[in-house]
Amino acid sequence: MKINGKHYRTIWPDNNNPKIIKIIDQRHLPHKFIIEELKTVADFTAAIKEMHVRGAGLIGATAGFAMYCAAISAPKNNFSSFIKNAAQNLIQTRPTATNLAWAVRRQLKAMTKEEDIDEKIKISFKTAQKTADEDASFCRRIGEHGLDIIKEISKRKKGEPVNILTHCNAGWLAFVDYGSATAPIYAAHNNGINVHVWVDETRPWLQGAKLTCWELAQEKVNHTLIADNTGGHLMQHNMVDMVITGTDRTTYTGDVANKIGTYLKALAAFDNNIPFYVALPSSTFDWHIKDGIKEIPIEERSGSEVNYIKGITADNKLEEICISPADSRAANFAFDVTPSRLITGLITERGVVRANKEAILNLYPEHQQ
Ligand code: MRU
Repeated sequence: MKINGKHYRTIWPDNNNPKIIKIIDQRHLPHKFIIEELKTVADFTAAIKEMHVRGAGLIGATAGFAMYCAAISAPKNNFSSFIKNAAQNLIQTRPTATNLAWAVRRQLKAMTKEEDIDEKIKISFKTAQKTADEDASFCRRIGEHGLDIIKEISKRKKGEPVNILTHCNAGWLAFVDYGSATAPIYAAHNNGINVHVWVDETRPWLQGAKLTCWELAQEKVNHTLIADNTGGHLMQHNMVDMVITGTDRTTYTGDVANKIGTYLKALAAFDNNIPFYVALPSSTFDWHIKDGIKEIPIEERSGSEVNYIKGITADNKLEEICISPADSRAANFAFDVTPSRLITGLITERGVVRANKEAILNLYPEHQQ
């Protein structure tokens, strides 16, 4: 994605010293564009846990580089247990997004292929790069497959704007490039299709207001920010043609975990006969979990993210204010699960499929048991 005309990924090794990994610290967007350098395993762990980086694909790519950092930091006489410990700590940082554990395990597997420690380090760098590159190319392909769906709607509407509602940020900032839910939107926009995006603000962290709006503005995509509870009303009044969201973990049976509030949007879409699509690369599938509601672990974050809100004042200062009685207890479930029956289709790097076991395993036959 381009920021002020310059192409960036969300994570990349420093040109002069690839042992330093650079990220965009998303806590400061949209007000400040700050690049942070990650140099130690503790830097990586904090960056994931405290959401300097976030979003399933980007958490996975960051974990890949974190394992490379662990490999170069590990004492030679205690290499394996240092690596195992780093892997365990990383996996625990954020429990819902499956890409994290997937990327860590991919690194562990790659490193076992080599005996020599220097070779293990080399293969861990290659694997981190591969995970990041694959994430970007899978998202680009998700864009191509999703484009066909938007084209169809645009044709039916005879060029009138295609109104797409999205929740949270499953954009470029949640991946290495392009995004999942936003990839078809960018592809449509770049193909001259008239698209307009309704952006749910996405309380409490406000990924929609802060990140999705910023991304869409950078790409000059027409969009409107809405309060989280607006979608149902818009759907009842024919102001939404389709919904596209991302996902942090999707079962092989098609149940989708995504940012809290997604389920309510899916219910409203179902009730109003509006197509509800979920976009994901294959790294977000959980091939072991059958029942998303019962089995997907839902991250609970600090209630202070609900009590307090951060933003910029009229005199340009970034400040945090309390919006409730300071001692009111707040619950902060970060994700919910939308059952497969409410989902029109999954947009993957291999194509669009129905959200059910048969269709998913047909598309990914290597995961048939
Ligand atoms: O808590 P976050 O910001 O890491 O949550 C992830 C999300 O932004 C969403 O749930 C998103 O729609 C899926 S991530 C590709």
